[in-house]
Amino acid sequence: MTKERVVVRDVVKIFGSQDKEAAALLRDGVPRNEVIERTGGVIGLGGASFSVEEGEILVVMGLSGSGKSTMLRCINRLIEPTAGSITVDGTEVTTLTPKQLLQFRREKFGMVFQHFALFPNRTIAENVEYGLEVQKVDKAKRRQKALEAIELVGLKGWDAKYPRQLSGGMQQRAGLARALAVDADILLMDEAFSALDPLIRRDMQNELGTLQRNLKKTIVFVSHDLDEAIHLGGRIVLMKDGLIVQTGYPEEILLNPADDYVRRFVENIDVSSVITLGRLASRRSPALPRHKSVGDLREAVAAAEDPILVVTCEHNRPVGCVSREAVLAAKPDAEIASLIEAEIPTADGSKVLKSALRKLSAHPAGLAVTDADGRYVGTVTQDMALAALTGTSAELDAAAQSERENAWTGASPNSHWTTSATTPSPGSPSTSPH
Ligand SMILES: Nc1ncnc2c1ncn2[C@@H]1O[C@H](COP(=O)(O)OP(=O)(O)OP(=O)(O)O)[C@@H](O)[C@H]1O
Ligand SMILES: [Mg+2]
Repeated sequence: MTKERVVVRDVVKIFGSQDKEAAALLRDGVPRNEVIERTGGVIGLGGASFSVEEGEILVVMGLSGSGKSTMLRCINRLIEPTAGSITVDGTEVTTLTPKQLLQFRREKFGMVFQHFALFPNRTIAENVEYGLEVQKVDKAKRRQKALEAIELVGLKGWDAKYPRQLSGGMQQRAGLARALAVDADILLMDEAFSALDPLIRRDMQNELGTLQRNLKKTIVFVSHDLDEAIHLGGRIVLMKDGLIVQTGYPEEILLNPADDYVRRFVENIDVSSVITLGRLASRRSPALPRHKSVGDLREAVAAAEDPILVVTCEHNRPVGCVSREAVLAAKPDAEIASLIEAEIPTADGSKVLKSALRKLSAHPAGLAVTDADGRYVGTVTQDMALAALTGTSAELDAAAQSERENAWTGASPNSHWTTSATTPSPGSPSTSPH
């Protein structure tokens, strides 16, 4: 069970003296322009809702001025929300007293900004210790924690240096160490890597991923860079004009952009290097357990769309393929195993489409996609790959959706890969062991 750490509901932020009036007008459905005209306020957030689950990296994305920083800073009330609710681990943040808020921030949050200031006259270790000093942690303990955090971000040996002796990238690492040292397990990061060179930036993204997995941090990461968002790999919240236009995993957003704004955002991304085979794999045709007889499966095979069908073993692993015609022409008591015509190439569902294109081009029947345990999760055909690459997968998604409703397989081919791979539905003829 995943746990929601941060829940943001209908949060509005109006900058200006008549903020409450403006928020009330917005709530009553008065058009934005009119609200701005009547109150003279600036709409930072026009009613945003999302949640952050334990241990996830949620990336808040959008163009400049879309409200990303405002959103992030409302979470720990560095910016005071005008209306709405924000709960962190069940505590309503918006009603905390100033004293409670200070304590709460220290306990729960670490923050890293694009241009955060390290104290120039303090060493790196002293900088990293700062948050612990504020918490009145004793000297030996805080030095130990600081050194641990410095090591985690790859700055071991630099603790006694001063910020000016470090490169920009190293200073950014020190900033991250400062956030990690306080043991707060929700990190709020605003364009934290934007000032770094592309290569260093990629290193930091990778390291953040590793840290997050090892330390089980929950991270809200603001970025205006889709490439960075995709690389971080978590869900993306896409903002425009203070509103959330779409929330989803990168491949969901790439395959089904909610509107033209999102479409423009994603148009230059190479889909094949983002979308996984597991996400693309379809179960529109049934897998045929090899020990079953033709009679058992005839109806399903007659209804199958694909000309070539995958045969699976007792452990639901693909063992070969057979043409639909051959099954339909066989005697009812013939065992599927006796009809296998050829092997079928398999492909790991966690791999991206790009990595399988060459193999796919050599196999017109497609690839049998498997999960981490080698179990069949669906087939990727050349047509499906082309549709994904040319941006016509919406139809595919629609087809998969109706299939899901028909529940012939019970599997959920188009849910996010990790979900479809780890939660085979009970009773499904081809995901349950036979
Ligand atoms: N203190 C402020 N006073 C008035 N308006 C503000 C203030 N802070 C932000 N805004 C406005 O709120 C809107 C959202 O700003 P925000 O800084 O959240 O955008 P952003 O998505 O973080 O942009 P960027 O990518 O440039 O950092 C903008 O229109 C901005 O001008
Ligand atoms: Mg910003």
